[in-house]
Amino acid sequence: MTIGDLAKDTALWLEPELGSAFTKEQKEDITVKAALYSLNAGGKRIRPLMMRLTALMTGCSGSKMADVLYYAATLEMIHTYSLIHDDLPGMDNDDLRRGKPTCHKVYGEGIATLAGDLLLNSACERLFKAALSNPGYLYASYFMCKNAGLEGMVGGQSIDLDSEGKTIDLDLLYELQRKKTGALIESAVVIPYYLIKELNEEQAKEDRTACLLRKLAEHIGLSFQIRDDILDVESDPSVLGKNTGKDQRDAKATFVTLLGEQGAKDRLSQEIVSAKNVLDELSKSGFDTEGYNVLIDYLEKRDS
Ligand code: IPE
Ligand code: IPE
Ligand code: MG
Ligand code: MG
Ligand code: MG
Repeated sequence: MTIGDLAKDTALWLEPELGSAFTKEQKEDITVKAALYSLNAGGKRIRPLMMRLTALMTGCSGSKMADVLYYAATLEMIHTYSLIHDDLPGMDNDDLRRGKPTCHKVYGEGIATLAGDLLLNSACERLFKAALSNPGYLYASYFMCKNAGLEGMVGGQSIDLDSEGKTIDLDLLYELQRKKTGALIESAVVIPYYLIKELNEEQAKEDRTACLLRKLAEHIGLSFQIRDDILDVESDPSVLGKNTGKDQRDAKATFVTLLGEQGAKDRLSQEIVSAKNVLDELSKSGFDTEGYNVLIDYLEKRDS
């Protein structure tokens, strides 16, 4: 099994579901067009890939798999909204994303702002809809919303912008990265299991597998963002699909600006080892961790 195989299987699984997120009539609306432009611009779909891996690893099949798919498409909508807004002139002011001009470059700032709003709102509608038809999914839906908000992605983005041009300590950097990137990744890694078991908050806290998945998510989230910070200084826009050197340009607080390139790489290696240790524990509990092992090897070396 290679990361290429996993990406291909994820695309075959995910893309039809994303394609049906808006009706033909809705697709005539300019804000929907802008949202779909970014949604279909060629993202790696790494969060849906993780959701598929957790589902398969924890023995999901049949109609549950269709529900995991529904949540995977929903999370990709939230992630894409976060990128559209992240690129706006008032935030990171970027003009290249997923190898294409950013949403606001094509549709203007107003429509791009609305496109992000629409993706978040549509995602919330989907989460309510799923919980209405199966109250066993209430906590999973709540968890995805919460991780997108102040306790998660928005909170991290807030610290990120507030830290521009400042020297912050490592603890705050961890909080920033854990929230801005780690929280959506945590949703990806754990929600399929919450859906399969229909866990409520208390059960999710106590369930041993859920605890291991949250630990795994933490190390994957940090690995993902540390590599993102390294790629900003080491990669090339033609490979990365987004501009490089922007963290330094904006005096951002990142693992590279705080620890240096080598320090960031060492930190990444530690996170990879920790992630693998959690996988060993999951494997000892009888789960097939091959897919996640392939993913984690990729996270250490990915070049886009
Ligand atoms: C980019 O995420 C933003 C971060 C959280 C670092 P991805 O690297 O997953 O972006 P796409 O979805 O492939 O474009
Ligand atoms: C953004 O982090 C993470 C989000 C919540 C969107 P970055 O600003 O580092 O992401 P890139 O490098 O622009 O993709
Ligand atoms: Mg940013
Ligand atoms: Mg950015
Ligand atoms: Mg970045």
